[in-house]
Amino acid sequence: MTNKTKEKKPTRRDFLYITTAVFGATGAAAVAWPLIDQLNPDASVSALSSVETDISSIPEGGSLKIAWRGKPVFIRRRTKEEIEIAEKEDNENLPDPQNDADRVKNKEWLVVVGVCTHLGCIPIADKGDFGGWFCPCHGSHYDISGRIRKGPAPTNLEVPPYEFVNENIIKIG
Ligand code: FES
Repeated sequence: MTNKTKEKKPTRRDFLYITTAVFGATGAAAVAWPLIDQLNPDASVSALSSVETDISSIPEGGSLKIAWRGKPVFIRRRTKEEIEIAEKEDNENLPDPQNDADRVKNKEWLVVVGVCTHLGCIPIADKGDFGGWFCPCHGSHYDISGRIRKGPAPTNLEVPPYEFVNENIIKIG
């Protein structure tokens, strides 16, 4: 007897088994979907992923550090002189070229994620060779626009999504 002669034609019972299996799988998916869907963040959780902060008490030249999605965010109220320097230095030989105007919505306010783009340390304000931030971990210097100027960090400090709700309130995220 060859293998071919052993093969059976599908019977009505086989058809029933297959049909039951398909409907069973569909039913399992239908039950699983609401459970999976519940794991997605709902609107209230998404709302928590943004933070509103009152910036009215930050003086010129001052800054505020807030937490957003587990990361520090630096909000800096720049002086006129700092803005002029940041714009003038657009023409410097920048490791990650970006104009200051492309990094701010309002020249007076710089908003950046306070995480060094090298290996993730938190840079220190008003330190370093370029008047912005200095990362002590491996010596990265950022300017007053948060652009990397010297050291191993490959890119500028990230600008998070943000908007001004009004002249006193900024919303990050
Ligand atoms: S983590 Fe900032 S320089 Fe290395």
